[in-house]
Amino acid sequence: MSINIPYSEYTKVKNEIFNKMIREYISIVEAIFIKHGTWLNSIYWHFDINAGTGKDKKGNNGSVLQFCEAIESHKIKYHLVCIEKDKNNYNELLINLKPYQNKGNIIETHPGDHKDILPKYFTDIKEKRYGTLYSDPPGSVPPFELLEKMSKCDCYKTLDFIINFAATTIKRVRKCSNMNAGKSLEMYKNKINKKHWLIRKQIGGKHQWCFLFATNWDNVRARKKLGFVNLDSLDGQKIWREVNLTIDEKKKIEQQMLPFTETIQSTCNIQNTLQLKRIGL
Ligand SMILES: C[S@@+](CC[C@H](N)C(=O)[O-])C[C@H]1O[C@@H](n2cnc3c(N)ncnc32)[C@H](O)[C@@H]1O
Repeated sequence: MSINIPYSEYTKVKNEIFNKMIREYISIVEAIFIKHGTWLNSIYWHFDINAGTGKDKKGNNGSVLQFCEAIESHKIKYHLVCIEKDKNNYNELLINLKPYQNKGNIIETHPGDHKDILPKYFTDIKEKRYGTLYSDPPGSVPPFELLEKMSKCDCYKTLDFIINFAATTIKRVRKCSNMNAGKSLEMYKNKINKKHWLIRKQIGGKHQWCFLFATNWDNVRARKKLGFVNLDSLDGQKIWREVNLTIDEKKKIEQQMLPFTETIQSTCNIQNTLQLKRIGL
């Protein structure tokens, strides 16, 4: 069966990052369940909205199987939702998921577009759903508007988003398309109802592949070992500037800053001169 999953040098790195991230995250959620004393009844929700086949082109585990392997090494019950648009990929996914079925967990698979399917899970129930959503599009702009709507459902306030994206695509679409004209990464991000953001330094050369992690969890810490830093930190802002702005925009901002920088410089010079005069030189 021919599968339709892009593979680049970046795929391997991406899978390693996701694998470490999801493993660490499941351990954290497990600790929360234990702390709340709800360990036996709690369910970890995971949405993989670009599920693929479950494996990469080289036969290594992709995001869905990585999740299954990771969570099965814990004793947490889980509810996994996989959405895949490509028919061949979807059929392959069903085969790859077979070993994980009928083990007392819920695994739902949907053939189709996440824009049509994910909203079926948007509900106004108040009971919190803990877990993760992974958005891993094949180089297209992630469905930020969908994530925005999901983040506004009360039950998903405790569901964190892992977003893999090609920054260059977002900038290119912003420049060229009338439909998305003017929508920057910053604009998309600001509409998503998550308080804290981590970012990982971009990889993958001209595509600027990058990871974002969005959560409302106040105790979230940078995961420096995995390369994730707080978006608000100095390092985070440096990465953000690279992925959010085009070369032209960066230049414009630098030009606008010049007179300001000069003003600061001349103020410093005046202060230095006054200081020198004060000490009689
Ligand atoms: C980069 S691959 C995902 C790989 C997968 N996450 C993994 O790690 O193995 C992107 C997948 O998203 C699927 N896809 C693209 N647009 C989609 C959409 N709107 N809804 C659902 N699936 C989509 C593609 O068919 C492709 O299989």
